[in-house]
Amino acid sequence: MNIPPVTPSITACPNGPLLVRGDVEILAASGEVITANRRTFALCRCGVSTIKPFCDGSHKLIGFTTEADTE
Ligand code: FES
Repeated sequence: MNIPPVTPSITACPNGPLLVRGDVEILAASGEVITANRRTFALCRCGVSTIKPFCDGSHKLIGFTTEADTE
């Protein structure tokens, strides 16, 4: 059974990560391809995750907040 393609989208979660949906490829600055192994994942934007580029929930521990006009 084939899984239909999902149109990629990125959603900025208020006071949290960037939620990425769809079939996307993540390229590190080095050019290395980072595999997410799932079609929905969260990218850290607070800077403290221990599993960058992915979010590990640490943003909650540090009280990360985002600007209201960028959400
Ligand atoms: S946004 Fe979740 S750990 Fe950084």
